[in-house]
Amino acid sequence: MSDGLSGYGSASGGFPAVRPRRLRTTPAMRRMVAEHTLRPADLVLPAFVREGITEPVAISSMPGVVQHTLDSLRKAAADAAAAGVSGIMLFGVPEVKDAVGSAGTDPDGILQRALRAVRAEVGDDLVVMADTCLDEFTDHGHCGVLDARGRVDNDATLARYAEMAVAQAEAGAHMLGPSGMMDGQVGVIRAALDAAGYHDVSQLAYTAKYASAFYGPFREAVNSSLRGDRKTYQQDPANGREALRELALDLAEGADAVMVKPGMPYLDVLARVAEAVDVPVAAYQISGEYAMVEAAAERGWIERERAIDETLMAFKRAGADVILTYWATEAARRLAG
Ligand code: PBG
Repeated sequence: MSDGLSGYGSASGGFPAVRPRRLRTTPAMRRMVAEHTLRPADLVLPAFVREGITEPVAISSMPGVVQHTLDSLRKAAADAAAAGVSGIMLFGVPEVKDAVGSAGTDPDGILQRALRAVRAEVGDDLVVMADTCLDEFTDHGHCGVLDARGRVDNDATLARYAEMAVAQAEAGAHMLGPSGMMDGQVGVIRAALDAAGYHDVSQLAYTAKYASAFYGPFREAVNSSLRGDRKTYQQDPANGREALRELALDLAEGADAVMVKPGMPYLDVLARVAEAVDVPVAAYQISGEYAMVEAAAERGWIERERAIDETLMAFKRAGADVILTYWATEAARRLAG
């Protein structure tokens, strides 16, 4: 068109006939036409619990997040539930780490004790989830056990995950989050849970989990000193289509819900996954994403609350049903007004 306005937006008397801005004129108008909304129930709080401490320990790279004692964890779970948050994802930090991550399968290990404590506190008011992975428990920091040459041994690791899953279910987990990116993990865990009678314990599978620099602060959160990197098991950031292959496998193996992680740098992957499935889809806004926003806000470079809420809405827009975020309780309270 000669006036430069295309399609149905023809000019009338030199003015644009179609003005998207008319639907942005007032808060009520914007609220009415909002395509997506964020609810407290969309949010899940990841939380760290550390063995052998009597006071919560601050995580310097995640200002506002702590390694909990069992007591402070119970309180955080109760606060999250009161704010309307749906779930809590627990990570254990044991006092003693070893090559096979023994504390991860010990019925008295810190994560199992935390699961029992949180269930005692909140009952079924929160979906109580556990990270089903060995890296918090191994002295080498890898997500699995190593073979004689120091490589992560997929199938030997699966046996450890099966044991871990049953220990977590026994301790009261409603839902497990297998995050180690071992081939076959969802199927092996499903079989182990079923064999032990835990048919109702579900899995939120970390379907597309990338080898990311944004996990940095998590290492401090779980006192991990990783030797090497995770590139032989976590996905290459260069790959999007491959996420759909992981997705098909997880669904075939019995995943109840699926997750994409990290969050913000992988919204395209999240959108593709959400488009492709009929199970709930979660996004994990990870430690480095939290740290970036907090650090920039601390310097006065961005508006903290607006930035947080914008990131959460972006996950909804991209197709997430569930968002794991360290800001879960805070954001839920803000939504409640
Ligand atoms: C693995 C696991 C990790 C995170 C959640 N589960 C670390 C990793 O894969 O390197 C990272 C979470 C975060 O960075 O907030 N057990």
